[in-house]
Amino acid sequence: MDDLNAATGPAYDVIIVGSGAAGLTAALALAQTLKVLVLAKGELTGGSTAWAQGGIAAVLDAGDTFEDHIRDTMVAGAGLNRLETVEFVIERAPHAIERLAELGVPFNTDGNSLHLTREGGHSHRRIVHVDDATGWAVQAALLKAAQTNPNITLLPGRACIDLITGRHEQRYSGSGRVWGVYALDQETGQVEAHTARATILATGGAGRVYQFSTAPRGATGDGIAMAWRAGARVSNMEMMQFHPTCLYNLDVKNFLITEAVRGEGGRLINPRTGKRFMTFYDPERLELAPRDVVARAIDSEIKRFGLDYVHLDISHQPPEFVREHFPTIYDKLLGLGLDMTRQPIPVVPAQHYTCGGILIDMNGKTDLPGLYAAGECTESGLHGANRLASNSLLECFVFGEAAAAHILAQWDAFDAPPPVRAWDESRVIEADEEVVIKQNWTEIRRFMWNYVGIVRTTKRLERAAHRIKLLNDEIEEYYRHFRVSTDLIELRNLLQSADLIVCSALKRHESRGLHYTLDYPETGAEARDTVLVP
Ligand code: FAD
Ligand code: SIN
Repeated sequence: MDDLNAATGPAYDVIIVGSGAAGLTAALALAQTLKVLVLAKGELTGGSTAWAQGGIAAVLDAGDTFEDHIRDTMVAGAGLNRLETVEFVIERAPHAIERLAELGVPFNTDGNSLHLTREGGHSHRRIVHVDDATGWAVQAALLKAAQTNPNITLLPGRACIDLITGRHEQRYSGSGRVWGVYALDQETGQVEAHTARATILATGGAGRVYQFSTAPRGATGDGIAMAWRAGARVSNMEMMQFHPTCLYNLDVKNFLITEAVRGEGGRLINPRTGKRFMTFYDPERLELAPRDVVARAIDSEIKRFGLDYVHLDISHQPPEFVREHFPTIYDKLLGLGLDMTRQPIPVVPAQHYTCGGILIDMNGKTDLPGLYAAGECTESGLHGANRLASNSLLECFVFGEAAAAHILAQWDAFDAPPPVRAWDESRVIEADEEVVIKQNWTEIRRFMWNYVGIVRTTKRLERAAHRIKLLNDEIEEYYRHFRVSTDLIELRNLLQSADLIVCSALKRHESRGLHYTLDYPETGAEARDTVLVP
């Protein structure tokens, strides 16, 4: 760090890293009285939020109850959820939907009420949606509100590298107090220091650590890795959710076929036998069993029969019904030469959601003073060992608001940040071997898919741990010697995320929810979080 080149003083009260559902919800709540800076890697719409299809779970139907939604969430989460968090989130869902409707999200209606669709693991119809492109409508409404708010500054094209802590103060304190972030301006290549009294991480998941994932390119676990490096605990990282139905297409790698297709009658068929196979794996819940059950069933069919994919068939429903409910998917598939009103859709499981993450409390607080987190980068206790479909956007709204409310309530206790040191580039040179980054990136994603996927063994996990150790030396050396780039920042965070996943998986000596290992096939009597301490 260069002591002489001090960063300029803070212009904002709170920094939020991430412009998805969690980040923008927090920003809008804070901007009532505070000045907020929102940083985003790439475009403001680059996170998972804009890609969400199915919808948002909320108890809105007269026949439905909070108790049922809570029970469904706990059943899907295999009892690892924290009941207090589950109640907190689910009871706030109707308010979250009301607030989004006020912001202009055009939810589908059925007469005078909202149309509710159904997804796996839900005992009632309770998914509020905007056709099959809910996330895009939510992202657009939140962004519009943020763009017109004079207290919010949106700064896209910033890849945050690390948190600024007491270690980076000009008068070194070495404390874990967080004062903001170092961020790479992706256009100029300069690294900026942004400081504020409070920082919120809302950076989304780490899905891209797997070769096949429905998540966008930037889901590289940056916030989780940054918080870990700064000293925050991380929990339940072994709980990686695989969505059962990602389109199988050699040209289109990560297009999701929403669970609502199964919710509206879609059946899973083995293309070799022509048989509906969920009758064998879960005769009661069939295609609407929780995701871990359905994904494992598909994985098993694929392996047993040597298939490339299975079929998801909704062609028995009237064509009008299919086109009306799934216009985005219908158009996309038609563009690929497949008419889902007449033909089955080839699907495979793919990584979809990061259930674990930065450990937070009910106020979105992390272990580190001044640092909050919300959304998919966190482990709040809501999802436990497996997330119930459409509970995650909900978590973003509830914890985005909770973090903002706590910061507003405690504002007088937040000190102004001290002068911090600017980013030191005096000992690095321009990278000359970009191929190293590409090679390592591909290697991580491949061994994570093969060794740390849907079905695990201790031996495979140990193999992955060994590869991670070797790659860590190589990547850290590269990081110390070469100027940072977005690819290098992401590679370092991908490896950190992979390490946290494998360490957590090796610690869990049972199969529970999303963590299924042939060496410990039984579920233990007591549900315990896997908490990693830096
Ligand atoms: P994101 O929306 O992912 O946003 C992350 C933000 O952080 C982005 O702005 C990104 O640029 C920024 N960021 C990341 N790293 C950095 C960095 N280093 N520096 C600066 N900025 C950074 N959930 C549901 O509840 N219902 C659904 O129907 C649903 N469908 C889904 C469909 C798909 C295809 C996918 C992938 C997910 C789906 N999910 C769904 C999950 C849900 O979309 C996500 O969990 C949720 O949107 C996460 O929101 P977030 O605000 O936490 O993060
Ligand atoms: C989907 O539409 O199947 C995704 C829903 C979710 O991830 O919650």
